[in-house]
Amino acid sequence: MLMEIQKKLQEHPWVGQIHWFDEIDSTNTRAKEMALAGAPHGTVLIADHQTGGRGRLGRSFQSPGGVGVYMSILLRPNCAMDQLMHLTCATAVASCDAVEHSTGLRPGIKWTNDLVHEKRKLAGILTELVIVGNQVCAVVGIGINCCQGPDDFSEDIRGFAGSLAMSTGKTVDRASVAACLIDAIFRMDEGLISGKTAMMEQYRRDCITIGQDVSLLRGDEVRHGHALSVDNDGALVVRFGDDSVEHVQSGEISVRGMYGYL
Ligand code: BTN
Repeated sequence: MLMEIQKKLQEHPWVGQIHWFDEIDSTNTRAKEMALAGAPHGTVLIADHQTGGRGRLGRSFQSPGGVGVYMSILLRPNCAMDQLMHLTCATAVASCDAVEHSTGLRPGIKWTNDLVHEKRKLAGILTELVIVGNQVCAVVGIGINCCQGPDDFSEDIRGFAGSLAMSTGKTVDRASVAACLIDAIFRMDEGLISGKTAMMEQYRRDCITIGQDVSLLRGDEVRHGHALSVDNDGALVVRFGDDSVEHVQSGEISVRGMYGYL
């Protein structure tokens, strides 16, 4: 698959720094190691199969071989950490662009980091920051379910997991999805600071959580409210029952619609 991806990217600035793994524990974990070892901005890691794919909040991300795109990209943005609050949202928009370019389907975004279509999760994003010397490095990790059928997911997630093939009813070319994703992240990175306002406007257009009644889960604590918007730092703006309005950072929070996953 690596050669197919390289062929599609032709003269792309990042084409010479794509690392392919038939099997790895987690591309995000390896990307962080490579960041510490001095790997350059725009280093791309792609795996056919992850044995320890990781998601947010310590969850795992099922990453079987032959059916998905599991990718991490190392960025060395020239800015302070507090200017990167919107990075996960920007990556989500770029991932929607990549899926749309490669399949014709534009997924929605469930705040903060899930790509969804018809109540099914198609992809997840895990953004991790590491400080190397005095520089901030960001690893953006994206896992996209491409070719799975319903029976390919384990029973615990079968009710709400989906794939691009299930959503489009078509065969999905993983190399096209991967090549479009690399290019979309490249473009996202180019406008990460200067294009922040426009990116967040697009995020709000894609985000299906806005306008919904939501349950916010932090450990054992559950709070119910209404999602009003997402601010330019990626926080969910929620009105609670006592009419107070809070900007909730994704940190340790998981969001559920009142009636299940969405
Ligand atoms: C989530 O669903 O909470 C995020 C899932 C992120 C999965 C991707 S797959 C590539 C990269 N490597 C990992 O271990 N995780 C991310």
